[in-house]
Amino acid sequence: MCYEATRELPLEETTIETPMGMAKTKVIAGRKLAFVPILRAGLGMVDGVLEMVPAAKVGHIGLYRDHETLQPVEYYSKLPLDIDERDVIVLDPMLATGGSAIDAITIIKRSHPKSMRFMCIIAAPEGIKALTEAHPDVEVFCAAVDDHLNEVGYIVPGLGDAGDRIFGTL
Ligand code: PRP
Ligand code: URA
Repeated sequence: MCYEATRELPLEETTIETPMGMAKTKVIAGRKLAFVPILRAGLGMVDGVLEMVPAAKVGHIGLYRDHETLQPVEYYSKLPLDIDERDVIVLDPMLATGGSAIDAITIIKRSHPKSMRFMCIIAAPEGIKALTEAHPDVEVFCAAVDDHLNEVGYIVPGLGDAGDRIFGTL
């Protein structure tokens, strides 16, 4: 998925040393990418994407869904100072109602990044619709589109509460 989300970024040529000799290859041009995980569950995707783009900076947006209203509540925001020079990929494994992704992207847009993409692992059709309507300029990359949201806003079949499962707080 990270490959798909970064495939349009400009490349530049570099030379690397393989066990057999020197080789010309391509790397992402400059150091111009930032990943922004939505806390908490987005943290579970950071190690993987940094393996592919180790020079990227990492910002953080803290949001949790109020379990009664399903509305996201912001509690933390720390973005790279030069985010206006960067292409941003927002990370969250779950896109359910879309409220968290929509608010996180709205917050990041205030700092004028060059472009934004959103990467998730499981999405509900309802969340994709809400997010693409709210932010039509933000391309969405996801590994699976599940069937629907249940009456309390969980993705079905989904995997339950991703943050609780990653951090063992069930
Ligand atoms: C989960 C998930 C998303 C959000 C998705 O976070 O990681 O951020 O719900 O739901 P939405 O699309 O309806 O907004 P949660 O609010 O449970 O916080 P956590 O990651 O701290 O557990
Ligand atoms: N957040 C999750 O972690 N899982 C869901 O199914 C919906 C929102």
